[in-house]
Amino acid sequence: MAAVPASLPGTNFPILQDMCPGMYFSDDTIAEIRAASDIVDVVSGYVRLKKKGSNFFGLCPFHQEKTPSFSVNPELGIFKCFGCGAGGDVFRFVREVEGMSFPEAVRTLAEKEGIELPEEGATSRERADTVEAIYGALRFAARFFYARLTQADSGQKALAYMQGRGYSKAMIRDFGVGYAPDGWNRLLKEAEAKHISVETLEQAGLVIPRKSGEGYYDRYRDRIMFPIFSHMGKVLGFGGRVLDDSTGGQENTQPKYINSPETLVYDKRRVLYGLRQARQVIREQEEAVLVEGYTDVISLHQVGVRNTVASCGTSLTREQIQLLHRYAQRIVLVFDADGAGEKAARRGIDIVLAEGMSVYVVELPAGEDPDSIAQREGASLNDYLAKRRVDFVRWLHDVDHRAGRLDTPEGRAAGMRAVLQAIACIPDVLRREAWLPRASEIFSVPEGRLYDVLESMATSREREEFRRSVRTGRPASGGGRQPTGRSVSRSDDPSVKKSRGPTFGTRPSDSSALATEKILIRLMFEQGLPMVSYILGNTSLNEFSPGAPRRTVKGFAEQHRAGSMNRQAFLDGAYGAEVQRLVAEVAVRKEEPSQNWEQKKGVVVPRLDENPEGTALQAMKRLKIVRVDEAIARRAEEQSRAEASGDDIRTYQQDIIQLQALRGRLEKGEIIR
Ligand code: GTP
Ligand code: MN
Repeated sequence: MAAVPASLPGTNFPILQDMCPGMYFSDDTIAEIRAASDIVDVVSGYVRLKKKGSNFFGLCPFHQEKTPSFSVNPELGIFKCFGCGAGGDVFRFVREVEGMSFPEAVRTLAEKEGIELPEEGATSRERADTVEAIYGALRFAARFFYARLTQADSGQKALAYMQGRGYSKAMIRDFGVGYAPDGWNRLLKEAEAKHISVETLEQAGLVIPRKSGEGYYDRYRDRIMFPIFSHMGKVLGFGGRVLDDSTGGQENTQPKYINSPETLVYDKRRVLYGLRQARQVIREQEEAVLVEGYTDVISLHQVGVRNTVASCGTSLTREQIQLLHRYAQRIVLVFDADGAGEKAARRGIDIVLAEGMSVYVVELPAGEDPDSIAQREGASLNDYLAKRRVDFVRWLHDVDHRAGRLDTPEGRAAGMRAVLQAIACIPDVLRREAWLPRASEIFSVPEGRLYDVLESMATSREREEFRRSVRTGRPASGGGRQPTGRSVSRSDDPSVKKSRGPTFGTRPSDSSALATEKILIRLMFEQGLPMVSYILGNTSLNEFSPGAPRRTVKGFAEQHRAGSMNRQAFLDGAYGAEVQRLVAEVAVRKEEPSQNWEQKKGVVVPRLDENPEGTALQAMKRLKIVRVDEAIARRAEEQSRAEASGDDIRTYQQDIIQLQALRGRLEKGEIIR
């Protein structure tokens, strides 16, 4: 069986869609894995969660936010973000956070829980999913390289090299370091024997087509291989280092590192080398150490600085810092004392501050790098780093001071401006201003004067542009990727979000119909069939918005007809992904209908648990009023169109009068109460 369509056209059943290539897993298997997976545990791998009531809350991994709107309900086994709308069960979480296909998510979770999956037959399992095939090839390659380093004779000189640099067996194992043997097709041949196609190998960045156009050759030859893992432990790519630093003849010069190209599974901006190994310690300490090289990461881990990560041959990105923010509050930048190191540290400071985290800098003595310091300091490296680290204001000042750049008035002004510009990156106004005394102390200038400058930076458009460009790493124009559902205005003041107005498990963009529909859906979901018959007895299906709300209610109606309620079906995605998301959202208790809603809309909203029927009644009433208002607006529009073209408008006027009367009766409670 070769290529199988990725989805069954016409099915509205995501599990089926995902699984149709081969229908790998039975419903029982899926259910078993779901039951075994602790969603809180899985999500905790990506999000720092805090328990509040029966739910857990944290910062959403699917969009950028400062206040937690992401929640997990362990009883229902679902997650939900009230900010961007993402939601679903544990499979959906893994899929979205890892960019995996459904089968891949199933496999990942099964592996985690030690559940054996039905035999993955060798050839019949030619994978339809390209991404999955790439992961497979990368995993295979990592094993191949590792075995060459640790088991094969050919790897002896590589192993000697690693040991010569002082790397322990334990570190080689923990980081999966390997060796790509010399020769043009060692990996290629082995992969072909394992029925991994060359197309897949090429898509994984492991082989390169020959210039002649015929055949392929291995990208990595005679190199130490550092596999790059996702924080979940999937191999995404490699960094390959030469064994010998001395360059051969001029023409023979090899780059010191060859890094994997970006592939379908490897987005360099979003990956940190060592995060897989470091994340637990980073979480415990709420602090991460950031260095530049693969070897630095391993060296630091080896001497006990186990919260170290590096970007993989790219300059630091905002996405990488966001990734760290799931685990850490503070970042310690450890950079070489040279021009490149300084530049990288300056950039790092701005990005970390703009992400709302704290940043410290450790500048190494000239000629040293983290690796050499680790060799020298050994187990006392942690102390060494703690002693040498300085806050960003101190560091920015000292760099300029040492370079003599603060000796002229112009230079001092530029130095202060640079510090204030960094401070201006801090999104929270209180935290921002809390740095002024420090800057004032270090530069010996009155705080008040700095305040004015900071304020002008912090309010000027220029600063907005500056901050945006820091965040995206791109020039300000053009606009970065905006996750859907995120409010457009990014306020510095967290309290603004709270005062944004009435919300009941709704997003700011929700129409008033949707807000009300969510109340009704939640009631039906929580209260079961009697509530379904109460609500369906007093509303008609087409009062609900087309799309997810109507499909959801239709689902309740079907279950009502069948005589039994199946809540899990909504959460499993049996009614489609949109319904799954919607139900997950309403099923996770975000908050009760707010008093605010009551004041603004003049609708008395009892707390849901206290009086579900009363709540349902008010919500149905409100939904009907919204629909009537929509009808009035439509008629009014038609009327003005008719007026413009000189047509008779009386029927429209009559309709409007009737609708307004209906609205009045609804409000008085004459129609439904
Ligand atoms: P060692 O010299 O073995 O200690 O490695 P290192 O990681 O310390 O190397 P270095 O400090 O020179 O470079 C830091 C990082 O920059 C490396 O880990 C790579 O990610 C990247 N890098 C270094 N050299 C090259 C190169 O020639 N090509 C590419 N693409 N990246 C490189
Ligand atoms: Mn080095």
